Amino acid sequence: MPIVWRDQISVGNDLIDQDHRYLICLVNSIDLALRHEDDSESLLVFVQQLIAYTAFHFQREERIQKLAHYPQYEAHCRVHKEILGHLAQVERDVRDYHAHVQDGSLVPGERDMVAGEVMQLLRDWVLDHVLKDDKRMEPYLRKLPANFG
Ligand SMILES: [Fe+2]
Repeated sequence: MPIVWRDQISVGNDLIDQDHRYLICLVNSIDLALRHEDDSESLLVFVQQLIAYTAFHFQREERIQKLAHYPQYEAHCRVHKEILGHLAQVERDVRDYHAHVQDGSLVPGERDMVAGEVMQLLRDWVLDHVLKDDKRMEPYLRKLPANFG
């Protein structure tokens, strides 16, 4: 089931919202790639793009938080670091999975295990963070122009 952007997801800053839209789009693409048995190549490419863009987005979000004097800045940065660690683990697992698909050494159940793990981590870390933790910035960001940062 794809995740669809709603106005309630907005944190009141155009740059951050724009990034979140793209991250949601990547999560949906990963979900789609997981539904195609033999498309481990696309899965790996999307996961790598998600990691690259998440790292870029976190830097941007942290910069905006600092400029906006967001009181939870330090704690939020720690969560970002933790998420990047989890994503790196997902990338390692997807890379192994892709290698096994390519050399024909996939073991029964491996695909379902990787798919479950990837979606669980994306939901728990990326989406949960974007939809819940980031939402706490909203009262601070709404005081500033929408294009702030
Ligand atoms: Fe964040």
